[in-house]
Amino acid sequence: MSGHGTPIPMTSATCGPLSGEAHVPGDKSISHRSLILGAMAVGETVVTGLLEGEDVLDTAKAMRAFGAEVTRDDDGTWHIHGVGVGGFAEPENVIDCGNSGTGVRLIMGSMASSPITATFTGDASLNKRPMARVTDPIALFGAQAVGRAGGRLPMTIVGAADPVPVRYVVPVPSAQVKSAVLLAGLNAPGQTVVIEKEATRDHTERMLAGFGAEITTEQTDEGHVITLTGRPELKPQTIIVPRDPSSAAFPVCAAIITPGSDVLVPNIGLNPTRAGLFYTLQDMGADLTFENMREEGGEPVADLRAKFSPALKGIEVPPARAASMIDEYPVLSVVAAYAQGDTVMRGVKELRVKESDRIEAMATGLRLNGVEVEDGPDWWIVKGRGHGNVPGGATCASHLDHRIAMSFLVMGMASQAPVSVDDGGPIATSFPIFEGLMADLGAQISRS
Ligand code: S3P
Repeated sequence: MSGHGTPIPMTSATCGPLSGEAHVPGDKSISHRSLILGAMAVGETVVTGLLEGEDVLDTAKAMRAFGAEVTRDDDGTWHIHGVGVGGFAEPENVIDCGNSGTGVRLIMGSMASSPITATFTGDASLNKRPMARVTDPIALFGAQAVGRAGGRLPMTIVGAADPVPVRYVVPVPSAQVKSAVLLAGLNAPGQTVVIEKEATRDHTERMLAGFGAEITTEQTDEGHVITLTGRPELKPQTIIVPRDPSSAAFPVCAAIITPGSDVLVPNIGLNPTRAGLFYTLQDMGADLTFENMREEGGEPVADLRAKFSPALKGIEVPPARAASMIDEYPVLSVVAAYAQGDTVMRGVKELRVKESDRIEAMATGLRLNGVEVEDGPDWWIVKGRGHGNVPGGATCASHLDHRIAMSFLVMGMASQAPVSVDDGGPIATSFPIFEGLMADLGAQISRS
């Protein structure tokens, strides 16, 4: 769990060129899903490349609490002996999902259509986040939820003894909500239909198909209509987790703003529901290329080469791209500070309910470091100062949010004065090797 330890202040100072290869860890979204679907299959699922960050380790613990056997070999291979759809046991203790919205929401969905009761909690960040977006749809299956005011954790879910399938239009663009409904649909008889107006990351759909579930997606006037047939026998899989494009974003953006840099980030998944940042950077004039494009495990994969880009320009980020880069806006706003002109980001209300209110957290820190920002409920504009003109010099609050901490540390690599964060501890939730990896490239990050 994060957020319970002593804060770890960190400072990033202007550094020379970043160079070399950045081997970022496994994809967080796919790692959570590998453990949960592995636990719902019959037999042994083997996973390599799993992200061993705190968020995912909390999900591994949770799967053990629901009765799956989850073990790790010394070489980092994970084995999950699943209990089958509908086979979850009732946990003896409270399930602590730490900092992870994905963990708690997907697990709530996966147990919602079984006749068991579980109580969930998390750290101070997770316990502030809205859960009604999941408890509303799982109530349609017959599950009940009792939580704190405003639908917050800690919360107890009483799973449905006699679940019915549902047809649900997801009211917010959220892969977590979509996935929670699909996972609940696994143990409901008949067909569960989930409709999303905007396409969000589709790892759950892809993985369910891989585990042998009957699942189809079609584009209609209503949006993406996903139909899942309940009560399949999920067949255990061998999963190689691709590297996380959301983690790749940090060395890529660092190289783009740091003079003289040339960094290769190999084996990055370019699933179109995740790759929006990279196209946005190219639109801003970044020297970012996709090398060795190929397909691995049904996903498009490439090696990303990012070089210092002195002539970045601010752009209006297409709102239709928001879902495919939702976790990348914080670090994009840092790149925007180094661009000439305004970078306009609209249709991003969801940023306000992530691990922190990411618009507020970034806008405050950017302003403290001499960058002008305007913001409203679902938009913000960063007024770029151009390369060499970002003052820096301030300490930013990371608000128990790994991506806020890493974004400001990236900012300090090319600012006139160093940039600090009050607590880099949350970085361990998604990118535990961040400090060492960035240091190997040439970054100057110190614990201060
Ligand atoms: C995730 C979905 C997104 C994303 C999160 C991971 C997932 O959240 O921000 O980091 O793995 O499904 P939302 O579903 O809230 O958009």
